Order: sequence, then structure tokens, then C-alpha cells
Amino acid sequence: MDAIEEIKQKTDIGILIGQYTQLTKSGKTMRGLCPFHAEKHGSFFVYPDQQRWHCFGACAGGGDIFSFMMKKEGLSFGEAVKLLAEKSGVTLPEHTSNKIKQEKNSRLHQANQMAAEYYHQLLLTSTEASYARTYLEKRGLTASSLESFNLGYSPNSWDSLTQYLLERGFTEDELLSAGLIIESDGKTMHDRFRNRLMFPIADTRGHIVGFGGRTLDNGAQPKYLNSPQTVLFDKSSTLYGLYQAKDAIRKEDCAIIVEGYMDVIVPHQYNFKNVVASMGTAIGENHIALLKKTTTNLILALDPDSAGENATLRSVWLENSLGAEIRVALLPQGQDPDEIVRAKPDYWKQLIEEAIPAIDFTFEKSLVGIDLSSASGKSQAVDKLMPLISQIKDRVRQTFYLDKLAAMVEQSPKKLELLLIKEARPQIAIPALSKALRPAMASPLEEYFLSIMLQYPELSTQKMEILPEYFTHSENRELYNAIISSNDHSQIKPSLDSALWDYYERLMGQSILPDRLSDKLAETVLRIREEYLKRLAQNRSDELAVTEGNQLREVFAQKGHLNEQKRRQK
Ligand code: UTP
Ligand code: MN
Repeated sequence: MDAIEEIKQKTDIGILIGQYTQLTKSGKTMRGLCPFHAEKHGSFFVYPDQQRWHCFGACAGGGDIFSFMMKKEGLSFGEAVKLLAEKSGVTLPEHTSNKIKQEKNSRLHQANQMAAEYYHQLLLTSTEASYARTYLEKRGLTASSLESFNLGYSPNSWDSLTQYLLERGFTEDELLSAGLIIESDGKTMHDRFRNRLMFPIADTRGHIVGFGGRTLDNGAQPKYLNSPQTVLFDKSSTLYGLYQAKDAIRKEDCAIIVEGYMDVIVPHQYNFKNVVASMGTAIGENHIALLKKTTTNLILALDPDSAGENATLRSVWLENSLGAEIRVALLPQGQDPDEIVRAKPDYWKQLIEEAIPAIDFTFEKSLVGIDLSSASGKSQAVDKLMPLISQIKDRVRQTFYLDKLAAMVEQSPKKLELLLIKEARPQIAIPALSKALRPAMASPLEEYFLSIMLQYPELSTQKMEILPEYFTHSENRELYNAIISSNDHSQIKPSLDSALWDYYERLMGQSILPDRLSDKLAETVLRIREEYLKRLAQNRSDELAVTEGNQLREVFAQKGHLNEQKRRQK
């Protein structure tokens, strides 16, 4: 349950509104004089079981606790959330107090920045670092690479960085939060990185968020010591070198993802500047999100072992979230990009040019050792590859691979398509099914609609048939407003009040069955309109209701039309 829902559950709407106007109970509803306009007879109703209020008088409007406070106290949605969170004793997630967090983070950025400069100066000038300098020379790095990647050396000492930064006004707490120092036996602090080659890790704006430190003492473990997960640093959403690579990625409309620090720096040095590293972790959706604003052409440059590990369903999920195909460049066994580029830059170029679609690679990989001329081999191939194909969101590409598999196992694509439908079903949660699990106050219909809007921007042309006031929940109204007023989909989240971020993420994570989606969307739109008109008509006997009745009949007519279409398609 996110904070918004918790606030709704913990707020008694009758008591809240009762503070502004006197309400009398009759049955399930409460009634009183409208707090928004002057009247003699109470036309203002509160429905505690639905957590809603409605004025049938001059306001002719209604809403939930948030919209009540917004209207009554002149607050924004975010302010209303904050106020009601306090009243109901709900703690809002950390990101709501953005200002404070930003200030704190900027202190940590500064500490990292200063540490990087300290390490960098030592690498360039200290006698202690002479071995490190020789090492880098042996690995072929130029002075200009040391500069552009701000490489450094951490001295073989327990407290030199600690002392350096404490003297410059940072507190132990800050250094701990930045991951620069370690607390041992609960008391004494010491430098995390000692006698290592330092690779500062920057975010897309160039702020240093963490470090990787390579041992200079061969055999010492770990080979690379990295900053721990901190408020600034999260490996799963950071790509090493992105700051230095982003212009080239934009220019070439292509990004190459490698594994290691050196595998980024060396290609850059040879003018292959669109290279970034996942720092040894599996590539995830957050990595994809960092790149897809700039390019949707991604190439994974992997050695055969890692490529094998990546050749799974995973690549399809990543492609779905990228909205495009991902390619794999297969490197020779045991050779890193760093070595290949240094030895034969042209060969590297060729490997990249010959990259193959990740799904083709997965096909090859999955079929190793399977005899496609036998019946059991064919069946194995189908078993292995159908789960993959069923997850491909792009229908054109899905059909392409379905046909490919069909040809390989000498089956008709139609027969495989039947399997596809069977395959896709059980994995998808349809909103109606999960209704029982959701608090009664949520509206699965509204959430389903918004999930589609957020996840399938290409379908959002149909959104205009819906007006913000159709939504019964303020958070949905708020989100819908953000969707229709943003031209750039990636700007929706930043434009929302941070109280809505968790909710936004939840909707982004809802699984939506992609088949016949635009039909389902059209139907959802009609149902939302229908619910809205019904709500109004239910409580009205004046002339307005007649117009609305007509509109409702029109909705029913459209629905009939839609059903008719569906029948004909079958
Ligand atoms: P590798 O072991 O392939 O190292 O790990 P490398 O990059 O080739 O390093 P060199 O060339 O020997 O100097 C690939 C990446 O995985 C992460 C690092 O980001 C590394 O660059 N890694 C590896 C760690 O974080 N910790 C480790 O102990 C090892
Ligand atoms: Mn290497």
C-alpha cells in the first residue's frame, strides 16, 4: 500500500469534513450545508463507505479527501497530501522532503568530488604513486585519458583521506554516507580505499557518485573494490563512463555496453566514445532507462560466457522496456574490449558492425545440441523458445520470430500461434482478477487506464475522450493531468508531486496484456465515462440529468457497436 492509500484508509472523511460543516447522519450517508457555497438547505453529501463527497447544489461537484482539502484550503495536491499525512500519522516516503535531500546529496557530491581530486593529485605527483603510474603506462593509458576519466590513487594509509576531508569541514557521518570511510569495531573510522587505482564514477550530470578501486597488488581480493550502495550510488542504475560518452552516443545514435572500467577508457582513447560499462553487473531496466532517452540502438559487447548468461528471457524484457531491438557483439573467448581495441582497433569496429539481434543469438544458443530433424528435437526447440517469443511485446517482431521458429521445426505458424496464446495467459494479471487484493478504495478501472497511458504512450491519442473530472480519485486525476499536459513521456514523473512517485512506479510496473490493447483501451474509456455519467445521473432529478441520460445512452450505443465489432472479428 502506498502512502496515498494509507492516508485514505486512516482518514475518516466524515470527521474531516465535519470540521468544516455540520453533518447529520442518515443511513449510510451524511448530509449538511455545503462548505463551498452559501445555502439554506443542505445539498452537500458525504458517503463514508466510498470515501467521497458530493454537492448537488451550486457546486455540482465532488471528490475525495484530497480534493476537499485542495478546494477548501486552497492547497495543491502535494500540499493536501502532506497536511493529511500529518493529521493521520502517515509518514511520507523520504523523497517527499526533496529540498532537504537535495542539500544533503550535494554535500555528499562535494565530498566525493574532493576525494576524487585528492586521489587524482596523488596519482599525478606523489612518489607513493610511482608504481601506479608505471602500471597505467603498461596498460597503455595516455595522460589525457587519466584527465578525462579523472583517475586517481588512494594511498596506503588508514586515515589520510579521512583527515583530509575532516579538515575541510565534512563530518564523519557525511563521509560514511558517501561510502568513503568504513566504521570498524563500531568505533574507529578508516579509509575504505587503500593502495588502489581509483576510478571515479559519475552520474549523467558529471557528479561523482562513487568509486571503483583496482588493486595494484596482483592476487589481492577483491580485484575491484567499489563504493557500497549509498543514497548517491546504485550500481543497477549507473553506467560507468556515461557522462563522457553521452555526446558520442547522441551523435552516433548508438551505445555500446561493456563490462569493465578499462573496457570503457581504452576504447574512448581510440576514439570509440560511445562506450559505457555496467560494472560487472547484469544489465537491468534502470540501465536501459538511462540510455533510451538518447538512443534506442544498444549493442552489448560481451565475451561468450557473459553473452550466454544474457541470452535469456531477460533480453526480451530489456527490449520491451527499451521499445527496440538489442544487439550482441560476440567477442573472442577470454578477450576484453580493452585488449581488442588496443591490439586491433579495426577488428573491434568489425565486431561491433557484425553484432546480431539478441533474440537471434538466443535462438542459436538455445538450439545447441538439439537435433531439429527429430520429432523430440523439434518439441524441445518449441519448449525452449516459445516462452521467449510469447514475451515479445512488438507484434511485428513477435510474428517474425514465430515464423522463424515455425520454419525451423516445420510447423505452420498458425499452430504455434495457438501455443502463444496459451503461453501468454497465465503470466498476466488482469486488473479485475487482482481486485480482491486491492483495497476497496482503489479504482482498478482508473488504474488500468492510467497504466496503459503510461506504458504505451503510442496509444495515448485516445486519451482525449476522457476528462479529468471523470476520475473519482484525486491521485488519478492528478496523474491524468500530468499525462495530457506533457509532450515528453519521460517528463511525466518529474512533473508530478513526489508524493505520487511510488504510485507512478506501481502503475508502470502493472503487467498489461498487450494483445488487442487498443480495443481494450477503447472499452476502458467507455466504462470510465459510463461510471461517471451514472454517478451523476443517480443522484439527480433536475434537467441536467436528462442531458446526461442522453449521453449515457450514447455511451451504451458505442459499447454495443464495439461488441458488435468484436463479434465480427471472431
Ligand atoms: P573483470 O574481472 O573482467 O575486470 O571485471 P576488468 O575490467 O577486465 O579489469 P582489468 O582489465 O583486469 O583491470 C569486469 C568489471 O566487473 C567489476 C568491475 O567493474 C570490472 O571492471 N568488478 C570485477 C568488480 O566490481 N569487482 C571485482 O572484484 C571484479
Ligand atoms: Mn580487462
